[in-house]
Amino acid sequence: MADVTDWTNYYKVHKERKARDLLIKTFELFDKDNFNSGIAYDLGCGNGHETYELLKKGWQVTAVDNNENVPELMNEISIEFKDRLNIQITSFENIRWTKCDLINANYSLPFCPEEHFEFVWDNIINSLNINGRFSGQLFGDRDEWDLVRHSKEQAIKRFEGMELEYFNETEKDDKTATGELKHWHLFDIIARKIK
Ligand SMILES: C[S@@+](CC[C@H](N)C(=O)[O-])C[C@H]1O[C@@H](n2cnc3c(N)ncnc32)[C@H](O)[C@@H]1O
Repeated sequence: MADVTDWTNYYKVHKERKARDLLIKTFELFDKDNFNSGIAYDLGCGNGHETYELLKKGWQVTAVDNNENVPELMNEISIEFKDRLNIQITSFENIRWTKCDLINANYSLPFCPEEHFEFVWDNIINSLNINGRFSGQLFGDRDEWDLVRHSKEQAIKRFEGMELEYFNETEKDDKTATGELKHWHLFDIIARKIK
């Protein structure tokens, strides 16, 4: 398995890229609700491309990552919006939460240590306001990396009581960002809290 603690090469490869399509899709859903900007968390923000997109749209963002290089990476792209940006360099289980309208988590939650996942998940669900959304990925049980993985049923169950607005399963052999071949099994998910 790739070294999932050293993100240096990942950040290099991702230095220049557009915000992820899943976040753009999430914006479209908020637009339909006539809700343009609120309070968001970007969990495992990495280089901060999604954080930047949120800031550009007027959101107030807490960007979370436990990698100490993240503030510098963020500074490169988000300095103009620093009044609306709060950075927490911490692990998911130590996040300081406030109520929020969006929790974005791209390719990050599967890296949460298994023993903290339930606690982190409860915080995610409890922190969302009604009509707030989760947008992000969970890894499937056939993913090659031995991280936090979910069967399709388990992934769907995570959103019990919420409206599952988008759920897309992908399974394929493909390269990682840093070029190794890997068996991917993942779910792209957008869900709205309704009660
Ligand atoms: C695969 S990268 C994804 C980065 C970005 N979200 C993206 O879509 O490109 C995973 C990120 O999660 C962060 N991360 C991994 N485990 C973490 C943890 N337990 N707590 C906080 N951040 C973590 C890593 O430092 C890394 O920046």
